[in-house]
Amino acid sequence: MTLTAQHDEAARRLERIAHAAGENVVTPGHAVGERYLVDWSGDYRGRAFALARPRTTEEVASVVAACAAEGVPITVQGGHTGLVGAASPLGDGDEVIVSLERMGRVRAIDVVGGSVTVEAGAILAEMKAVVEEAGAFFPLSLGAEGSCHIGGNIGTNAGGVNVVRYGMMRDLVLGLEVVLPDGSILSDLRGLRKNNTGYDWKQLFIGAEGTLGIVTAACLKTFPKPTQVETLWLAAASPAAVMAIYKHLRKRAGDLLSAFELLEGDAVALSTHLTDVEDPLGEAEYGAYALVELSAVGGPRLRPWLMDELAAMIDSGLVPDGVVAESLAQATAIWRIREAVVEAQSMTGKHLRTDVSVPIEAIPGFLEEAHELIAERAPGGRSVSYGHVGDGNIHLNVVRRSEADEAAFLACLPALEQEINALVDRHGGSISAEHGIGISKRGAFAARMDGPVLSVARLLKNGLDPAGLFGRDRIFSTQARTSDET
Ligand code: LAC
Ligand code: ZN
Repeated sequence: MTLTAQHDEAARRLERIAHAAGENVVTPGHAVGERYLVDWSGDYRGRAFALARPRTTEEVASVVAACAAEGVPITVQGGHTGLVGAASPLGDGDEVIVSLERMGRVRAIDVVGGSVTVEAGAILAEMKAVVEEAGAFFPLSLGAEGSCHIGGNIGTNAGGVNVVRYGMMRDLVLGLEVVLPDGSILSDLRGLRKNNTGYDWKQLFIGAEGTLGIVTAACLKTFPKPTQVETLWLAAASPAAVMAIYKHLRKRAGDLLSAFELLEGDAVALSTHLTDVEDPLGEAEYGAYALVELSAVGGPRLRPWLMDELAAMIDSGLVPDGVVAESLAQATAIWRIREAVVEAQSMTGKHLRTDVSVPIEAIPGFLEEAHELIAERAPGGRSVSYGHVGDGNIHLNVVRRSEADEAAFLACLPALEQEINALVDRHGGSISAEHGIGISKRGAFAARMDGPVLSVARLLKNGLDPAGLFGRDRIFSTQARTSDET
């Protein structure tokens, strides 16, 4: 085919997809806005054949059926806050982006039954506000919640800061509505807590990163809204000391614990450099910090008890200094320290971002060895790490020291990442705790999949998407890879 003939054929294909999708659903590739082509990290930028923004599940199904008929690949997109490149289009420019941003309705709330039925394009924070307005609580909580979509939370099996109490997104889904790669709709939004009729198929689509289908709506668990939420900011000498605090509080507070975050001293130093971030403990610098949240529905008042607990931890030398937030404003300011690290690390330029988990007991040893690796392999870098350590999840991030040469620093990162992944293996951990595989971790993932895991994955993928049009090259690379890649 000549170039002109190819061009004409592509135009006709687009025309057919746009016609099938319905009026004002499809935008041609050349007119697709920048924000659909990149993600928040800025690390992934692609091109698109077209953008589809359906308004209903039926429109999603029509777009998918038309793409299937034309053999056009699809990438499904939520709030652009994923960090592994699963949702941004690839560089080839032949994919249709299916954005769920026009499907953000809360369809139903059942406070007594404890569920909310919501469309995939709902923004997490907005949905939480609607649920709270109705007198219930949805616990998933993460820095990106002002932008991320419920569909993305499901596609990536999002974690965040309250997993220690409420679990990952996987634990919060009662049912799904999904458009399959052939355009058919699979749905069970009854919200039943108990239902043992056959396979629990919804779990396949949670964490599948858009490779098996498009989640268009979900029925999610809600909980009674906590009436008491207490926030502590505790200094510690080291990550090992933070883990000693974790053990202590786990024993003392049990299930009252709803978040337990570790921050390295360097992460807090980087964060408090931003003008709107302040450490309530003042100028003193510590090796590490714990941000702890306890919450309860009803019951006796937590604050006086917690003040006594903090005094006892200080007296015993477990905690050198710490505060219990006295107001919602102070609690918000403490959480701001944690959230601002993510922004501050991005401001340092290109860096190594990881999302690993290890058994909780292994965290201090893992971090110590990781620091040695950084000093050895990337002397121009420094660790600004933090994590949801109540779940064993560490974001071990390595940013460039301001005095270090950028090219030399960046050149060290691929090998350093491989070494860190090997360290994770030695500690019996996972190379992706909550962000997923996407593009960025597929080499490391492939290197760790054993035969049976691979054959089950192939069965599922080939069974549901035999033409391989959904999330092409995400999670699994089509090329054989023998070692890690970044
Ligand atoms: C966080 C994101 C990076 O924990 O997962 O802030
Ligand atoms: Zn995280």
